[in-house]
Amino acid sequence: MLSGPRGFSQDAPAALKSGSVMNHAVRNSRRKQQPGQSSRRTRWLLACVVVVFFLVAYGWKGRERTEKPVRGVRREMQFMEATPATTDPGGRIDWSKGLYSVDRNDLVLAVPTDSLHIELVEAGRQWHKGIRTFLAVNDSAVVDAKQKEAAVFKETWQFAADDAQLKALHPGDSRAALAPFQAHQAFGDTYKWMLYGDDDTMFFVEGVQNLVKDLDPDMPYFITDHLWWSSVKGTVGSHPNPEAPRCLPCNYTSPEPWMDELPAFNAPRGCPCTAQLLCQADERHLFESDCHIPLHGERTYSMHGGAGALMSIGLMRQLPLSFMRDCLANAGVTTGGDALLTICLWKAGYAHTDPGFSFFHPTVRMFDPGPEDSPGLLYAMTEALAGRCDPSCQLLLQHMVTSHIRSRQQASLHHSAQMMRALSNTWDLYAAKTFATVS
Ligand SMILES: *[C@@H]1O[C@H](CO)[C@@H](O)[C@H](O)[C@H]1NC(C)=O
Ligand SMILES: *[C@@H]1O[C@H](CO)[C@@H](O)[C@H](O)[C@H]1NC(C)=O
Repeated sequence: MLSGPRGFSQDAPAALKSGSVMNHAVRNSRRKQQPGQSSRRTRWLLACVVVVFFLVAYGWKGRERTEKPVRGVRREMQFMEATPATTDPGGRIDWSKGLYSVDRNDLVLAVPTDSLHIELVEAGRQWHKGIRTFLAVNDSAVVDAKQKEAAVFKETWQFAADDAQLKALHPGDSRAALAPFQAHQAFGDTYKWMLYGDDDTMFFVEGVQNLVKDLDPDMPYFITDHLWWSSVKGTVGSHPNPEAPRCLPCNYTSPEPWMDELPAFNAPRGCPCTAQLLCQADERHLFESDCHIPLHGERTYSMHGGAGALMSIGLMRQLPLSFMRDCLANAGVTTGGDALLTICLWKAGYAHTDPGFSFFHPTVRMFDPGPEDSPGLLYAMTEALAGRCDPSCQLLLQHMVTSHIRSRQQASLHHSAQMMRALSNTWDLYAAKTFATVS
């Protein structure tokens, strides 16, 4: 598994910030409750019972890292109406109109896991149904045992040993960094986007489809809006940190005339996003003159494995497995598989691209909103199904791409698996009601 530096979340406050999107949605939904309508009230009570059950069963893990306010960003946003491109006669959103629309055949998934997490991986089959999935596991007996059912679930299982010598905090970290490249070797040039995350990461596939529909998959892209970054040199940093250097997609146009100030890092459009481009855009001298990637201890700078990422086929063509293996061998010791991957991505000349939406809507996060608040997402979806999703809640649900269940923080692996199933099933109901193109 890959993860951010272990232990960093311990200093996070347990309560959600009062200004968080989900609290906002919850407050508004309460305000909108109609006391006279008993069936609506019953549904509301039912929703509450469901949510309370999950909160009790899983513990309220909604926590956010302490994050310095972003300099230069106007935090009190007026929420824009969620504006879908088109709607079908049923009033559902039709996102099929992008230049580069994809279906599930165009997606593959790479998951690093270990022999103790199999139940969680099996729970993931609900959300990644129809998507070819590569699983790197540290036990050849598991690989053998999975062969029978692999074809049914479009799964490819491969053995990948634990690190004999630690490259980061966990023995699975090299496996985590290599999994996407082994997946590419297994699938070949037969897909457009690779979904990549921990085994306790889930993707909301319709959200993925919406995100990538305007992005050319032949352009090298490493997409996430959830990065580790130390705003202050020499500190551990936080995630997601909106000040983290990143690009915006090639030719991205910001449709937000009401944004009066840009976020702290003036993200360049990347065609593709290269390390060099970021260093040129670096007005605050965050990078040294030789444009080296800041390492943990100096500044933490990494994707977040739990929040996950999307990698285009254009990027995967540029990063052979042999290059990654060599890079890992020389990467030194760092915090996790996610950090190892970021270091090697940079060494190959590439850097992260923010999909742009949350860059201009700092209260929204596409990759693991919350963060790590799966009960909050479940609640928001339940509210939406009951017809009580205000614009900020719609903005959240219509644009979220991943959720990190964070199995390490759950009562047991079984609880994590059940949470993933609950999220998947509720999402399927929500997506069927909301999106016209459900594949
Ligand atoms: C695989 O990883 C798990 C979790 O770290 C560990 O308990 C198990 O012993 C490992 N299996 C092998 C064969 O290394
Ligand atoms: C970006 O715009 C340039 C010209 O403005 C065009 O040549 C190029 O094809 C565009 N790239 C993408 C990926 O759309």
